[in-house]
Amino acid sequence: MMFFCAHLDFHDAPDRFGFTAIDQELQPFPGKKIRLIFGQRFQAQQSLFAGYIAPVDYFFYRLVCRQLGRKYDPHAHFQRAHEYGVRRFAFDTRIELEKLANLAPGAQVIGRVAVDNNGSHWPLERKFGIEPGQEVEHFLYARALGLEPYGLTFHVGSQNSDPQAWVRALERLSPIWNELEARGIQLQVIDTGGGFPVQFNDPVPGVEEIAAAILPAMQRLFGNKAKLLVEPGRGLVGNTGIMAATVINRATRGEREWLYLDVGAFQGLIEMLDFYGFNYPVISERNSEPLTPFVLSGPTCDSADVIKHQAMLPAGITLGDRVYVLTAGAYSNSMERYNGIDFPETIIVQKELVY
Ligand SMILES: Cc1ncc(COP(=O)(O)O)c(C=O)c1O
Repeated sequence: MMFFCAHLDFHDAPDRFGFTAIDQELQPFPGKKIRLIFGQRFQAQQSLFAGYIAPVDYFFYRLVCRQLGRKYDPHAHFQRAHEYGVRRFAFDTRIELEKLANLAPGAQVIGRVAVDNNGSHWPLERKFGIEPGQEVEHFLYARALGLEPYGLTFHVGSQNSDPQAWVRALERLSPIWNELEARGIQLQVIDTGGGFPVQFNDPVPGVEEIAAAILPAMQRLFGNKAKLLVEPGRGLVGNTGIMAATVINRATRGEREWLYLDVGAFQGLIEMLDFYGFNYPVISERNSEPLTPFVLSGPTCDSADVIKHQAMLPAGITLGDRVYVLTAGAYSNSMERYNGIDFPETIIVQKELVY
């Protein structure tokens, strides 16, 4: 099993992602140069969004997670991030505001607004976002706690193929922004989150098309008052990774041919499970034979660890052959320590048994 990260484009989609790379000296680490490299395509190109990519604070937070190690302690994480100079935090509950007021006093806060996630493959709308109608109240509370109301954010859901989803979200934000202004709170940024799609099989709108929807809507609704930030995830890195797996077994079970790989849902391909339903393309290094349908399974004993029900692969594929899972650059290797959070430590408690 291997994981490549490079400039690889199997869909012949030129210039789909043109974000400028982040490569700058981080103020909180004088003398230390930290490079965040997303592959050459991002470094080489300019785009409509150039300069608007989410600030370094967001990425920097991962370093904090790494430093603090095993135990996920949100308090320590907030505090350390703040000590290192992270000034902007997103929130969507009063409790988060209270935590910030204690651990990152004076922080700039960006409220996450719940928006409709229509058009996305993986909606995030139920789990996140201030309860609709309570946004202004939350910002008033933030101000009362000594925090600096700074902006609004949202997420249209991952892999969203409808550019109008961002427009609808901005329209939802506009009255909140205006009401806050009327109450004497002048926000400064709109962060349009992630959701930019990557091409698995069917064509998806490119970043230019989505930008062509977002930018005029920003102008129409916020004029020059709001600075725009974007937080692309999948759209930025999805097409830069390929999982190179090896066949470890093959079986005929009833009518179906099964192929077992040395990597599956628990080694980075979780989004290929039925529950997620992402249809990552799979190819083989053999390309001269007729194709036949296979059920593709991961190596574990879990019967759920089936990553594709109908993978068209060469009929003669067998033990030791390589199989490549394409477009696997996002939410794959990052699952090893997702969001920087370690697996819990095991503590064995010995008790005396009383008969
Ligand atoms: C707050 C936030 N921003 C951006 C992203 C990136 O989203 P995507 O990969 O859909 O672009 C995520 C992903 O979950 C997120 O939680």
